Amino acid sequence: MNNSKHHIYLDYSATTPLDDEVSEVIRMHLRDTFGNASSIHSFGRTAKALLEENREIIARSIGAETSEVFFTSGGTESDNHALIGRALAQRRTSGKDHIIVSAIEHHAVLDCAEYLRTLGFRISTIPVDQNGYVHPDEIEKLITDSTCLISVMHANNETGAIQPVKEISAVTKKYGIPFHSDTVQTIGKIPVDVNDLGVDLLAVSAHKVYGPKGIGAIYIRKGTDLDPILHGGAQERNTRPGTENVPLIAGFAKAVERAEQNRDTLFTSALQFRTELLGIITSSCKGVINNSSGTQSLPHILSISLDPSFYEIESETLLFNMDLRGVAVSSGSACTSGSVQPSHVLMAMGRDIKTTQTTVRFSFGKFTTIEEVKSAGNTYCSIVQSFLKPSIV
Ligand SMILES: Cc1ncc(COP(=O)(O)O)c(C=O)c1O
Repeated sequence: MNNSKHHIYLDYSATTPLDDEVSEVIRMHLRDTFGNASSIHSFGRTAKALLEENREIIARSIGAETSEVFFTSGGTESDNHALIGRALAQRRTSGKDHIIVSAIEHHAVLDCAEYLRTLGFRISTIPVDQNGYVHPDEIEKLITDSTCLISVMHANNETGAIQPVKEISAVTKKYGIPFHSDTVQTIGKIPVDVNDLGVDLLAVSAHKVYGPKGIGAIYIRKGTDLDPILHGGAQERNTRPGTENVPLIAGFAKAVERAEQNRDTLFTSALQFRTELLGIITSSCKGVINNSSGTQSLPHILSISLDPSFYEIESETLLFNMDLRGVAVSSGSACTSGSVQPSHVLMAMGRDIKTTQTTVRFSFGKFTTIEEVKSAGNTYCSIVQSFLKPSIV
């Protein structure tokens, strides 16, 4: 995708442009369906009907019942609700206070776990192997009588590694422990079905599938005990207060529907893009480390690090130079005041800090073209080569 400055956008895992049809739906409902879905009059009832229609679409897309889907402000809030809501409910009702999370979770999960630690909960972290995969037997080793939640994401946002969620849910079921999975990166890209995956809680977000920012949902399997984390209203069946943003919810449902329709086509083209890009990079650059080399991975993401003994460069400089040359990519990990933090995901995979700090994440989407991929690959290689250490050249 080119924007007005002729930039090539390869950062679809950070966010996606708004789909035109989605944009139309939102615009129409912002204008026409302004009623408060909790109001008794006809304006309210119209908004409520639209709300429920779209809840049904989201529920159907993940194989859930309509009553199990609750709208939130996005992936971060859904993850917070799953962890904090579950932890507080369980400590109150059963005294259980132990939570298990994988080492490669998004900060929306990891920072919640750290917060819960400050409230006296015990947190255990599941390690990953060098390709970034959780092994279900590692989870079994951490389970205690006090474990009240296990959280492992569906696919990682930095590397694309798809976790063995079905095998993990077989373990969590064996012990009767609720299982949360963050599917923010997988919805609309690979099948996400709550019963097939065996999850009890799940987080989704609209803006990764060409929908608007600030809207998402949490799936809560019937019977899973969760406290609300926000207080102040009876909306979303006393689970998530706040006036529902019906136009954005309609846009979210439209985005998910369209992403599902395009899913297989996008998967095939992403595979071609990743193969092409990796081919260009490995044939032209020395010391390339592919962080997305696992057999089960989203083809929409390619994370590349460089051997620091070959290069005098960090991701920040790479990203800056790529941007100057018209290619928007990311390091994949959090950026704090302009400097790239070492990635906890790559560190958990056993990479050293210096290597993690050379990382660039390319991510593809429905507007990506093969020409853009080739151009981005050549741009990356020419920048990287200019930072080769003199002893290597
Ligand atoms: C895996 C994952 N979880 C959660 C989030 C947060 O979602 P949101 O931006 O909708 O709050 C993101 C966004 O980058 C993500 O990639």
